[in-house]
Amino acid sequence: MCGIVAYIGPRDAAPILLEGLQRLEYRGYDSAGIAVAPPAGAKGAKAAKGARGAHQDAPRELRVRKTKGRVADLAETVPARFKGGAGIGHTRWATHGEPSDANAHPHTDRAGRIAVVHNGILENADELRARLRDEGAEFLSETDTEVLAHLVSAQLAEADGDLEEAVRRSLQQVVGTYGVAVLDAEQPDRIVVARNGSPIVLGIGEKEMFAASDVAALVRYTRQVVHLDDGELAVVRADGFRTFTEDARATAKQPSTVDWEVGSFDTGEYEHFLAKEIHEQPAAVERTLSGRIDDRFATAHLGGLNLDPREARAFRRVKVLGCGSAYYAGELGAQLIEELSRVPAHAEPASEFRYRNPVIEADTLYIAVSQSGETYDTLAAVQEIKRKGGRVLGVVNTVGSAIARECDGGLYLHAGPEISVASTKAFTSTVVAFALIALHFGRVHDLSPADGRRICAGLKALPDQIRQILDHEKKTGQIAELAKRYADHPGMMFVGRVRGWPVAREGAQKLKEVSYVHAEAYPASELKHGPLALIGPELPTVAVVPDDELLEKNLTTLGEIRARRGRVLMVGHTAPDVKLAEDTVLVPRNEPELDPILLGIPLQLLAYHAAVALGRDVDKPRNLAKSVTVE
Ligand code: G6P
Repeated sequence: MCGIVAYIGPRDAAPILLEGLQRLEYRGYDSAGIAVAPPAGAKGAKAAKGARGAHQDAPRELRVRKTKGRVADLAETVPARFKGGAGIGHTRWATHGEPSDANAHPHTDRAGRIAVVHNGILENADELRARLRDEGAEFLSETDTEVLAHLVSAQLAEADGDLEEAVRRSLQQVVGTYGVAVLDAEQPDRIVVARNGSPIVLGIGEKEMFAASDVAALVRYTRQVVHLDDGELAVVRADGFRTFTEDARATAKQPSTVDWEVGSFDTGEYEHFLAKEIHEQPAAVERTLSGRIDDRFATAHLGGLNLDPREARAFRRVKVLGCGSAYYAGELGAQLIEELSRVPAHAEPASEFRYRNPVIEADTLYIAVSQSGETYDTLAAVQEIKRKGGRVLGVVNTVGSAIARECDGGLYLHAGPEISVASTKAFTSTVVAFALIALHFGRVHDLSPADGRRICAGLKALPDQIRQILDHEKKTGQIAELAKRYADHPGMMFVGRVRGWPVAREGAQKLKEVSYVHAEAYPASELKHGPLALIGPELPTVAVVPDDELLEKNLTTLGEIRARRGRVLMVGHTAPDVKLAEDTVLVPRNEPELDPILLGIPLQLLAYHAAVALGRDVDKPRNLAKSVTVE
């Protein structure tokens, strides 16, 4: 998705903005740009062209460079004389208007005095554009954002040149979502930022300040951050910031410390973030579990849920909401909750839920799942539940993110930043977090201490078992080899039963996301009710087959596939007769309830190696964004 960076301080802004934009590349984008305010007392570009000494009176103009393409292309167009200590930058993911130089941000007013970068969608842009046109504005792009630059410019006169007031008044006229940063050539000592539905984080440095749509752009410079709330603005100067609401009431914000390492934003010894993040899973899971297993009572200690045992018992149902991989992790989570606590639990895509006027029940506990904590559909679902009086917990990776703040309580994953678009370590940590929630709910219901101990031991064994799977692959290259062979087919079927079914869904999702090989997931039990017609030598099947009470049923399904000459790659605990599966990948056995976590790992490796074999852009697959912060 689009990314924003802003800098103000004693250093030149341009290199810092370009570096920040590079850090945001992983989110997906098609064009990039920066605007820098010339330092106070210096000549603006327009003044420089004029007669000697004319700059005293000539209007100051921002220095702007923008281009369709990569941040590296942009960097080439930025001259060394691009001086100035205040600037804003943007990576754009086209929504209004195709990717082009003209549509790239920043957008400026006619005089080139005001520049705006914007994430989100302004719904009344057409209306505002028509009005501004009548007032004499000329538009150079098809974007909604350009409207905002002209609007701020128009409001400046009415606000006696006060930039923050002009931005505030402009945003009051806007309908839609935004994370926005505004720069004024005449006031290079400040940048105004605002948030409504699209994240903005301030970064506090030593006599310098930063702002961005994602902490990834900030961690190289500072760990002290402030998350803006929806409807909040900030005026940022080199020596500090002031926050206020859209109706001009001052707000008090406490900075928080980001614990993410700068190294998390480099691929290190790996060729891709996806590989790195797959291999970080043992450590990520350790962190998710850290301090949360209560051996004494064979339960999980989860203070952040903000539910006392009586409240935890009172819920009659659990509804889990998320998008993409977060939804599939939520499906596994719902199964775990239902299995361990016997409270009916179900997962639904947040993107569907929010549009269907859902019935919100007082005795249902809602759980929102999101790696980024910024996915708009999930956030909107949470807001809809809260508006109707429901109780929502969050299972979120990004501390202080919008979804985390909107929820009544929850659990942070502590998986560390996930850069690759396709989710792996956040997926696995989410399922582990759900196992903790399920254990906790189970133990306030009827899960016996013996079963509680069994699950505690299983959870503790997970990091080492994941390590074993990864080490085995490092030694043998088995999955890399299989991926090459299987990726050669036009499509693949993924099947699993009950616990294996969401694993199959996520496996198919991973494969299609990163390799662009068509992949379809079906419950193994449903195969004979339709999709069996597709099975043949040209469509191989990946079957998730744990050694659980459904083993025999699953083996029967494999027999049905093999009888149609379909190739089978089985992921499970014991190799079946070769007549049932030509290829088998084995994983260590844990407790049956927790086995899905381990069964998913080989499928991540399969997708990764298929993408590499096919020469795909592994970390930034086409058409996808890491976090979808617009509708
Ligand atoms: C996007 C990404 C998916 C991700 C989903 C949910 O669609 O491409 O990989 O699973 O968003 O993201 P979240 O940050 O809410 O977990």
